[in-house]
Amino acid sequence: MRMFKRTLLKTALGGLAVAATLGATAQAGEVEVLHWWTSGGEARAASVLKQLLEEEGHQWKDFAVAGGGGETAMTVLKSRAMSGNPPSAAQIKGPEIQEWGELGLLGQLDGVAEQGRWGELLPPVIAEVMQYDGHYVAVPVNVHRVNWLWANPEVLEQAGVENVPATLDELFAAGEKIRDAGYIPLAHGGQPWQDATVFETVVLGTGGPEFYRRALVELDPDALGSDTMIQALATFKRTRELMDDGMSGRDWNIATSMVINGKAAMQLMGDWAKGEFTAAGMTPGEDYLCAPAPGTEEAFTFNIDSLAMFRVSDESEREAQQALARLVLEPEFQKTFNLAKGSIPARPDLDMSEFDQCAQQSLEDFQRTAEEGGLVPSMAHGMAVRADVQGAIFDIVTNYFNSADMTAQQAAERLVNAANVAM
Ligand code: BGC
Repeated sequence: MRMFKRTLLKTALGGLAVAATLGATAQAGEVEVLHWWTSGGEARAASVLKQLLEEEGHQWKDFAVAGGGGETAMTVLKSRAMSGNPPSAAQIKGPEIQEWGELGLLGQLDGVAEQGRWGELLPPVIAEVMQYDGHYVAVPVNVHRVNWLWANPEVLEQAGVENVPATLDELFAAGEKIRDAGYIPLAHGGQPWQDATVFETVVLGTGGPEFYRRALVELDPDALGSDTMIQALATFKRTRELMDDGMSGRDWNIATSMVINGKAAMQLMGDWAKGEFTAAGMTPGEDYLCAPAPGTEEAFTFNIDSLAMFRVSDESEREAQQALARLVLEPEFQKTFNLAKGSIPARPDLDMSEFDQCAQQSLEDFQRTAEEGGLVPSMAHGMAVRADVQGAIFDIVTNYFNSADMTAQQAAERLVNAANVAM
């Protein structure tokens, strides 16, 4: 009985708190949020937003579509939109935000942005991506760095590898020792987006950020067909030697778990992988190591997750969207979410003392490369080129990676053709 009363009281108080948060005019509404945050670390991070929204009295309708990199989620989003029933919010990134804006399907967040002073808070490189036609239509959740190498220090030690490889040559030399010691050098999942993640990282490590920009952002045919690209493609193909036979179709987080449990020594992956190490209770610098991907110390491949809002007619739904957008940039969400997700906050003004050394290095490198050059958008994660062009590059990269007889030269020619079609 006492228990029952206490529960009743709690519910009543909860109701009061909700009414107070929502204010006099606001109405409780529902936001259906499409995302692909389904791995252990990702799901922990996503639950933070759900909780904060619900604490404000709104409802979160989860629309999670599994599949790393989000390709499946985007296909599902397109079919929902085509049937005239898009969710109210969706994880849409980079140039794709412009594509949805052009279709006239996105709602505006200018009021929230003005109240929250997004223009002052956000680095220009982020603020720009969130706007369509001069209006805010999306809110940034974080900044992921893609060019990371994750390593298991115990496996490296067992194999007699003293330092985390800093160059591509060192990567292959370490790989040989690791293989000889009976471990898999590089954990990988053979899926197009993961192949493309390794590919762009090798392009960056081979040609540097200016070359990367010309080739994979500006799609300059001269860069795509150059000797540097052919060399990068050949090196990319060589990374297969470091991988295991079971990689085909493997999810990225399963590959991360191979580094966690010591089956594999390293993984080339963005820092959502850190979310998996964190969820496993591991500490960077002790249980696992993070280092810029070989040859890319001076560069930062950015991948900004963002939630775009679809135009809705229901007032309460619109209020819930606005609340969601506001919450996303508040310090509490930025901190808790990014600690779990492995990324750094989208707003650089926050106290980073609770973040680990990988995140601190990420923020430092983000700011340094933004000022000095070297900050480049990730092609593999939808930040650099239109979705159709990205799809064409993925096809070429994956076919080449898995083909026994396509040469690096032929793959480069295909990239040039794809760029010419895209122009
Ligand atoms: C997204 C991350 C996500 C990763 C794996 C990336 O494209 O930006 O948020 O964790 O894919 O699914």
